[in-house]
Amino acid sequence: MVVALAQLAGKHILLIIGGGIAAYKSLELIRRMQDAGAAVTPVLTKAGAQFVTPLSVSALAGTGVHQDLFDLTAEAEMGHIELSRAAELVVVAPATADLMAKMAHGHANDLASTLLMATDKQVLIAPAMNVRMWEHPATQRNLATLQEDGILVVGPEDGGMACGEFGAGRMSEVPQIIDAAAAAFGGCPLRGKHILVTSGPTHEPIDPVRYIANRSSGAQGLAIAQALLSLGASVTFVTGPTDKPAPKGAQVVHVQTARDMQDAVRAALPADAAVFAAAVADWRVVGESQSKIKKTKDGMPALEFAENPDILAEVSQLEKGRPNLVVGFAAETDDVIANATAKRKRKGCDWIVANDVSPATGIMGGAENDVTLIDQNGSEDWPRMSKDAVAAKLAKRIAEALL
Ligand code: C5P
Repeated sequence: MVVALAQLAGKHILLIIGGGIAAYKSLELIRRMQDAGAAVTPVLTKAGAQFVTPLSVSALAGTGVHQDLFDLTAEAEMGHIELSRAAELVVVAPATADLMAKMAHGHANDLASTLLMATDKQVLIAPAMNVRMWEHPATQRNLATLQEDGILVVGPEDGGMACGEFGAGRMSEVPQIIDAAAAAFGGCPLRGKHILVTSGPTHEPIDPVRYIANRSSGAQGLAIAQALLSLGASVTFVTGPTDKPAPKGAQVVHVQTARDMQDAVRAALPADAAVFAAAVADWRVVGESQSKIKKTKDGMPALEFAENPDILAEVSQLEKGRPNLVVGFAAETDDVIANATAKRKRKGCDWIVANDVSPATGIMGGAENDVTLIDQNGSEDWPRMSKDAVAAKLAKRIAEALL
């Protein structure tokens, strides 16, 4: 339990309480999760409310309990999509045969099933039902489907049940569910590792009021920093100007230009790994004007450009103090894989995360990404997923590579 306490500290868990007699254990579960330092947002299904009252759940959780998909007050405060993603882990306890069937078949006809469809986070279920229902081929098929989908399962245990029968179907006890939730966070494989992340655009000034920039929102870089932090890494986050919040717990360095970013990156080394997610301007304006350039009758000012330092290439090619893993990004609009593969070689980085940023994809500035990971062995297409999910997957890969 000492390990679980550390792993759940500061985590946010969405707890879905299904309708079964085992729901009484979920009250204890809320308490123990809180003891471990987690914040719990409870969701009570209609059937769940037959076994435990909304009042006892919300009193224990210290927050409101969410019950209805069409609860307008809740929607005004927090939509169901946001609710499904705000937490870092979704726990379903008890997971009834009906909830498992809904999950396996993609139903979304009440708040719990909609949240489970909408979430991009890891889901852990603690099944609880009568032994015949558990052993029924339909439940076993649904279980296999859910496991294939990556859903984690704790229990059920053998034992006497409220219905008087004996066998598998009893919901796991609270300490087992707590341990499974802690294991779902995967521990902290990056503890003790320093990782540098660059993010956002750069601004290259023309004069004191004008600059050249690009459409990078900084969303993917921020998500990567957060995912690395949640695996225990210490992160230096070098960011160009964005309206995104800083990742909590990172050492944050704000920069404007590519050359500022280069200085900040040099200062942040050494690092065990470096992820260059920033969209660095390739060129800067030569002879930045110290006063605002005026409109004149003589026509438009001619801007002369100089090439910016390639920070990724510089770090990738360091003879001394090169991070063990250097990851670049390639935002392309044509021949994505071919261009990104050539870029990996040219720059000398280990991996390239390539994506198509043609306007039609909605990726630049959007919430989702559709990436291909390129390494020395070839390319691996990842399905389109949220930027948070891309970040979690990349962070996990980085942890494996640094082992
Ligand atoms: O060459 P291109 O800009 O497409 O390469 C993209 C990758 O190189 C990204 O990882 C970006 O952060 C990095 N880069 C850099 N310095 C530059 C240009 C790009 O670090 N001047």
